[in-house]
Amino acid sequence: MATVFSGFFSNSISAPKIEATPMTILSTAEERIITLEDISWHDTAKDCWIIIYDRVYDITDFLDEHPGGGDILLEYAGRDASIAFRGSGHSRQAVRSLERFCIGELPMHERIFRKPGGYRLSGIPE
Ligand code: HEM
Repeated sequence: MATVFSGFFSNSISAPKIEATPMTILSTAEERIITLEDISWHDTAKDCWIIIYDRVYDITDFLDEHPGGGDILLEYAGRDASIAFRGSGHSRQAVRSLERFCIGELPMHERIFRKPGGYRLSGIPE
């Protein structure tokens, strides 16, 4: 009897799990198109979105964690921070950490970096 039960339970444990991979999360977020107008309303310490390389980031919970301080981020609340981000010489690790805050991207006609024939800078995340 014990064998029957353990067989039953081990089968259910090995059942396929449905998990979101980081790639799934990124592509889901990227499907959300957010306009400059929408973003401009999220410009306070309690609700802070910024744009870096045409992607939109909700950094509200990151303001207190940012090694460069929250105030410097708030200067770009609701706005584009691409050049400031680049100019501060962030590490690859910092660029990678952007991903966890990504909530969407600009519509094609409002982009300036990631569009066919758009402004090209080396080192822009794909
Ligand atoms: C979501 C966006 C951002 C993330 C995830 C981020 C992340 C980081 C990280 C991890 C560091 C530590 C050093 C490194 O690894 O490069 C850093 C430092 C710094 N960041 Fe940012 N950053 C962001 C946006 C910005 C923006 C828009 C500015 C505007 C100027 C800025 C200015 C700085 C400065 C000045 C430092 C250096 C602090 C120091 O060494 O004392 N960051 N940031």
